[in-house]
Amino acid sequence: MSVARRSAGADTDEILGRLRALRARDAPTHGGRVLSYVYDSGRGELDELADAAASLARPLNGLDPTVFPSIAVMERDLVGFTRRVLHGGRSVVGSITSGGTESCLLAVKTARDLWRRAHPEGGRPRLLTSTNAHAAFQKAALLFDLDVDAVPCCENGAVRAADLVERMGDDVAMVVVSAPAYPSGVLDPIEEVAAAADDRGISCHVDACFGGFVLPWWPGLPRWDFRARGVTSMSADLHKFGYAPKGVSVLLHRGRRRHRAQFFATTRWAGYPVVNPTLLGSRSASPLAAAWAITQHLGERGYAELVGSIQRVAAAVRTAVDGIRGLSVMGEPTGPAMTLVADASAPPEQQVDPYHLADALVGRGWRIQHQPGRLQSDGVRIPHSAHLTFTPVLEQRITEFTDALRSASDSVRGRPRANARMLAAGLRALGYGEGGRVPGPAVSWRLLRLAGADAVPSGRPMAQLMALIEQLPPPVAEALLTELLARGSEPR
Ligand SMILES: Cc1ncc(COP(=O)(O)O)c(C=O)c1O
Repeated sequence: MSVARRSAGADTDEILGRLRALRARDAPTHGGRVLSYVYDSGRGELDELADAAASLARPLNGLDPTVFPSIAVMERDLVGFTRRVLHGGRSVVGSITSGGTESCLLAVKTARDLWRRAHPEGGRPRLLTSTNAHAAFQKAALLFDLDVDAVPCCENGAVRAADLVERMGDDVAMVVVSAPAYPSGVLDPIEEVAAAADDRGISCHVDACFGGFVLPWWPGLPRWDFRARGVTSMSADLHKFGYAPKGVSVLLHRGRRRHRAQFFATTRWAGYPVVNPTLLGSRSASPLAAAWAITQHLGERGYAELVGSIQRVAAAVRTAVDGIRGLSVMGEPTGPAMTLVADASAPPEQQVDPYHLADALVGRGWRIQHQPGRLQSDGVRIPHSAHLTFTPVLEQRITEFTDALRSASDSVRGRPRANARMLAAGLRALGYGEGGRVPGPAVSWRLLRLAGADAVPSGRPMAQLMALIEQLPPPVAEALLTELLARGSEPR
């Protein structure tokens, strides 16, 4: 019986025992076996320090740093550390947010507000991105009422600067480039795009949520941070390669005026004056304190050492993949990610399908991330793939991983990719996807059951569900996925 359903409160040991049992069914968060979502430095002392700092800050409310000045001090230190490693200089200021999505949302909101100020005649601003830019920018455009203009990227995940520059116009509130892009691990042509945006007076955001605490120590890169002319804002997540627990990111702006446009302030209600730099009102200071403690402990040198591990892992995996028949790396990744695709130059019976590979790795104790392929507006298809995020801890068992990669590839080589065309065609025949028609909750659930995808417990093969997602019109796929997630947290 669920603890919450009991009439009397449960014993603390029992509650924690139950939570431990629930957690035992989760994918492992430590040890590097999950190559997405979690970022393990491999240094246990960092987790202990983070827990102690988070616990000290737990009762605080980040809503008002004038009442709890420790929050302002920690924010100041974190913004200072981040702007230093991103070469921001004294004119760069910023805020701590709850994560990458919030940093991206606020960057867009800020650019939109500045654009509106500069365009009193009105109109609808455009957010210029690429198909590689994180989905958070689509969310931002939806929430803040901008049109998304996502230019197609090359089949190998690279974005051409000229494609973005060509689309720059007076209605563009902001152009987004990534350092690197999550789906491909490729570094966008930041210098060229930012300079062109600068020449036209357009804001340019570098989304370094993923690479912001890795690339500063990665050798041989072109200018990708505030050293590049025209970069007006940057996001960098402390809860990724900053190794802090979830709930903390940094958003930096070039210039106070831009930063202040991020704020919401009002004295126009019956209560206390509300001044929020972020989307939330009351907010936890625990992730902030944990991130603060970790950066104080690691310093730039500590981060540089951890990046050394990531580089060695990336090199070892690259060598392994280059030696696997039928499998290849998409494009030229820079930093802590790599994307695996079937080698299209090999005959079908020699190809390693990335979805089957990902599923086969689960049985060997490893998780890599399925990424659906995508037909872009220019007709260029980005192939379906598997994403790998490399964390420092993986260096400790790199041979085990590359052996697993080889044996999993051998076990699926030549297996044709999963196909959900029949179901997708059936849905089309029923009119779903036509004119924006999407199934409601009951039909979506029935369809998921039909596809055998109504329960995707941790570790179950995903190839079939992913094939279905790829082959359905996006609004239908989005309705099915919404249903899948929503059902999971409905009370039973
Ligand atoms: C480049 C990039 N931007 C933004 C985000 C969104 O971050 P979050 O999941 O912390 O909201 C991610 C997450 O992976 C990312 O890789």
